[in-house]
Amino acid sequence: MNNLLTEKIQENLYYIGVNDRITQLFEGMWPLPDGVAYNSYLLTGEVSICMDVVKDTTVQGFLEKLYEILGDKELDYLVINHIEPDHSSGIVELLSIYPHVKIICNKKTVPLLESYYGITENIIEVKDGEVLKLGDRELTFYMTPMVHWPESMVCYEEATKTLFSQDIFGGFGTLNGAIFDDEVKFDDYYLSETTRYFINIVGKYSGQALKALNRLESLDIKTICPVHGVIWRKDPSKILDLYTRLSKQKVTDGVVIIYGSMYGNTERMAEAVAKGVVEGGISDVRIRDISKTNLSYLLADTWKYKGVILGSCSYNNNIFPPMSFLIEELKHQKMKNNIWGFFGSYSWSGGAMKRFDQFAEEMKYNVLDIKPEIKGAATDEQIQELKDLGKEMAKRILADKKED
Ligand code: FEO
Repeated sequence: MNNLLTEKIQENLYYIGVNDRITQLFEGMWPLPDGVAYNSYLLTGEVSICMDVVKDTTVQGFLEKLYEILGDKELDYLVINHIEPDHSSGIVELLSIYPHVKIICNKKTVPLLESYYGITENIIEVKDGEVLKLGDRELTFYMTPMVHWPESMVCYEEATKTLFSQDIFGGFGTLNGAIFDDEVKFDDYYLSETTRYFINIVGKYSGQALKALNRLESLDIKTICPVHGVIWRKDPSKILDLYTRLSKQKVTDGVVIIYGSMYGNTERMAEAVAKGVVEGGISDVRIRDISKTNLSYLLADTWKYKGVILGSCSYNNNIFPPMSFLIEELKHQKMKNNIWGFFGSYSWSGGAMKRFDQFAEEMKYNVLDIKPEIKGAATDEQIQELKDLGKEMAKRILADKKED
């Protein structure tokens, strides 16, 4: 079969990945409005080596590409850099066709191979820094724990100077005809989907991501082949820089206001806070309704903006449940470069502000002193207090800017 979809990256190195436009939520949580690609690669020459598999629901397209290149030859090796099922669940189908393939992975992957797929044989274990010579190929493995799972590792191939980076440097979004960085308009759609992917998937492990990036610094990398998103052959430094900036949690001088409102009073408060921010001299302001906005985008905004202002109505003596979910998720993010502000509606019981206070105290956040808590609809005087909160946020952001 020749479906003409296999792409040559270099001599004896092929792209054999697939697009998934069916799955709506990545990991059952994160929206995929434009799908996602599961990238896989095949090295040929004296031996054949497949780098990661794909999700079982898309495995057919991957197998067709593999067969297109290998023909009747055996697949000699399969490297599992990362065993999360979006890159490994196709392995059962793969092994039914290539039962003798030797699986290269590390010791943390071994028990997962057994528990997920019952695979216990034909396994070659590699250690951090180990070099494996396979035919005319020389592979070096580097462990990158928690980026994204404990067993995650990357693999560097000497002859082509290619880094097979698994999730690192990946992004959401399918590959639409173009697969290389120099073929796509990265700074638009791919930039925002790569950033959202980092924040949703890797963000909470940004410290480990930074460690992993430092380890890769000494390698002479010509091409980066991640398991999601575009392949970097023209300007790998661009994605390295983006990941470094995100890992260091660099923020922009703007404000996101996220509110939860049942009857519009807290929404009106959010509008007043935003007005204050703008009057204070910051024009990059985003207001998000927590009831309508997926967590994925809320987290992306809290990572992006220096100023984060959360406002919530009270609900059954507590905070609005969607806001409760958000602050629990924010606790995992370990964000360190934001200024925080809070406001709330007392309703008939209070509860929202109390919970915000607990959250800020627990996280030891840098919080603005003005914390309006309003019963029912805000009066003119209270609207002014809400504006003052916004102005104070703008003042603090501009003051920090001067110091930089
Ligand atoms: Fe793309 Fe952590 O899997």
